[in-house]
Amino acid sequence: MGVGTGMAKGLLAAVLLAVLACGGAHAKFSRYSFPKDFVFGTGSAAYQYEGAYNEGGKGLSVWDNFTHIPGKIKNNDTGDVALDMYHRYKGDVQLLKDMNMDAFRFSIAWSRILPTGSLSGGINKEGVAFYNNLINEVIAKGMRPFVTIFHWDTPLALEEKYEGFLSENIVKDYVDFAEVCFKEFGDRVKDWTTFNEPWTYAQRGYAVGLFAPGRCSPYVSKSCFPGDSAREPYIVTHNIILAHAQAVALYRAKYQPSQRGQIGITVVTNWYVPNTDSAEDRKAVQRSLDYIYGWFLDTIVHGSYPGTMTSYLGDRLPRFTPEQMALVKGSYDFIGVNYYTGYYTSAAAPPNGLEQTYDGDIRANTSGYRDGVPIGPPEFVSIFFNYPAGLRELLLYTARRYNNPVIYVMENGIAEENNASIPLEEALKDGHRIEFHSKHLQFVNHAIRNGVKVKGYFTWTFMDCFEWGDGYLDRFGLIFIDRLNGLKRYRKQSSYWIENFLKRY
Ligand SMILES: *[C@@H]1O[C@H](CO)[C@@H](O)[C@H](O)[C@H]1NC(C)=O
Ligand SMILES: *[C@@H]1O[C@H](CO)[C@@H](O)[C@H](O)[C@H]1NC(C)=O
Ligand SMILES: *[C@@H]1O[C@H](CO)[C@@H](O)[C@H](O)[C@H]1NC(C)=O
Ligand SMILES: *[C@@H]1O[C@H](CO)[C@@H](O)[C@H](O)[C@H]1NC(C)=O
Repeated sequence: MGVGTGMAKGLLAAVLLAVLACGGAHAKFSRYSFPKDFVFGTGSAAYQYEGAYNEGGKGLSVWDNFTHIPGKIKNNDTGDVALDMYHRYKGDVQLLKDMNMDAFRFSIAWSRILPTGSLSGGINKEGVAFYNNLINEVIAKGMRPFVTIFHWDTPLALEEKYEGFLSENIVKDYVDFAEVCFKEFGDRVKDWTTFNEPWTYAQRGYAVGLFAPGRCSPYVSKSCFPGDSAREPYIVTHNIILAHAQAVALYRAKYQPSQRGQIGITVVTNWYVPNTDSAEDRKAVQRSLDYIYGWFLDTIVHGSYPGTMTSYLGDRLPRFTPEQMALVKGSYDFIGVNYYTGYYTSAAAPPNGLEQTYDGDIRANTSGYRDGVPIGPPEFVSIFFNYPAGLRELLLYTARRYNNPVIYVMENGIAEENNASIPLEEALKDGHRIEFHSKHLQFVNHAIRNGVKVKGYFTWTFMDCFEWGDGYLDRFGLIFIDRLNGLKRYRKQSSYWIENFLKRY
């Protein structure tokens, strides 16, 4: 006994005090620390999960095409089979249920519903049936389907026909696709997201060319398809915002009154901390937020692109007509926020005028380190640093700047390496993930106590999946996928932790 006893007693007293302070039976940190209607879930996306890329009448998407180009994706991985959720959804939904999830977030593959991308090419009944089955299974197990209409998989046919989101033609085809979704699924789906992380689609796809459709200026990279990193990201985002606004307007006019669901958009941002206290660095922080986050949220909440963008970009930033802006402003019932990392940011000079790019336009130098010290523990995915306090700051900022909207944290998570030489029982021990989610949830909790209207939290991701440019190298899941043995699913420790966290009693 000896030395330990006094400490143990002290600890016990502290725990008792905490219990008394928080009021009894539900004092331990759990779902009961959150408002009653708070939704806990986990997320996925069609291309990253479904596989069956050319089965069941599905048309190809830009991602099907892109991953088949050697050298684009780590290890030349593709989503051809992915996790085969297309065939295994029943068992997968049972796994969600076993974890006591309230909700499952997934996206609908546009070219599985409309193989040519357009209504004129016909609706694929098998595709509709797949999503009906998935939705029905989720609901039968007592969970809520949170559906993303677009998660980056533009139909290849539309890319070939008019260059996809570079053309305003996409707006009509997107809205037609969204309407098929409302019509076919809206009797049961009450939580719609129009677009997931449009920033990533525009920046990765058109500024640096690392994601489909893989375009950038030749001075950015010789291995992209030829594009224009100084203009195309702005055009693509402009068309996405128009498509979003028209889909929301259609939903509100024609479907929401009877279906009684909610619709919003899900955007990603980092949290930025000024590298020094100088006015220049603080301005660089604001620019960083504006170019990644305000680009979407200033526009749909306040009705114009951020001043830091309009004043600098001139005619590179497309304009809305007054009629368009009337549709854009206020086009959300909630804001979805994806958060992964914090960075230090300092002011940087713009690149020379001949080699403009979206990234250079921000005029900020962003780094996970200050004087060699990381802002939070560096993660396996080298662009990410574990910085939970940033989520609270981001939520407070969002409430402050954007009229205190209803917010769902739609993605938040951490990965470990896919490494075949680690024995299975070791690979399932993901204590770092348990700590990651419990810390971030505590900061979400602080934000709620400070009046932010956060209504849900979704982990990224349900199962280890195809992580875009990284292929299958990053394991972000609560569930481990054994890719060498028939995609067998195994529960990681974090899946038991969350099951317990979400248990109702
Ligand atoms: C599809 O991939 C081929 C290479 O296989 C490429 O030449 C073509 O440009 C790609 N199409 C699009 C629209 O990205
Ligand atoms: C990807 O495919 C290309 C062409 O077949 C090949 O040269 C390259 O080595 C492959 N990369 C990997 C990591 O297998
Ligand atoms: C960018 O910032 C990091 C620290 O935040 C610093 O180490 C680096 O030198 C800076 N780079 C430039 C080009 O200013
Ligand atoms: C895979 O894991 C083994 C065992 O932990 C380790 O020695 C090796 O460095 C890892 N491989 C890579 C590529 O990180």
